[in-house]
Amino acid sequence: MSTVKAIYPGSFDPLTNGHLDLIARGAKIFDHLVVAILKNSEKAPLFSVPERIEMLTESVQSFGNVSVATFDGLLVEFVVQQCAQVIVRGIRAISDYEYELQMALMNRRLAPQVETVFLMADEKYSYVSSRLIKNVFELGGSVDGLVPQAVVSRLQARVLPNKNR
Ligand code: PNS
Repeated sequence: MSTVKAIYPGSFDPLTNGHLDLIARGAKIFDHLVVAILKNSEKAPLFSVPERIEMLTESVQSFGNVSVATFDGLLVEFVVQQCAQVIVRGIRAISDYEYELQMALMNRRLAPQVETVFLMADEKYSYVSSRLIKNVFELGGSVDGLVPQAVVSRLQARVLPNKNR
């Protein structure tokens, strides 16, 4: 019987409960799910790639069929190199759709054999993004309940300049 391997790519800076919800859904559908962290993001990251690998690895260890990897360069090249057939992406709202559609169609042009599958996380995470988590945290707000424990503890351990934490 053939198995289906999927790649869930992203920056994961940091991993949120929305991402984790999506990972749980992907793990149920696909035989193997690889959560792939983009290494060469242009954005200035809050967490280094090794820190993100650590947080993700801790958070996905309860799933028997989920692993964590990093990639550089074209996503579709990584997908092919991994012998995967599917790219998983999350859609929260219509506003995500335009960008995601562009990426999916470009990836299809580059590698027609690879399918992009969109999944929706639970609606309680529909407003949660890594960008907002970073913003709220950096301004001293609580992000408890919105990110996994592995992320909460690292955020709490991080002493920000100008903050009396
Ligand atoms: O979580 P993000 O930051 O929205 O993830 C974006 C990501 C990593 C999926 C996207 O930037 C990507 O695939 N980058 C790799 C470079 C690439 O393949 N670019 C062409 C995409 S059409």
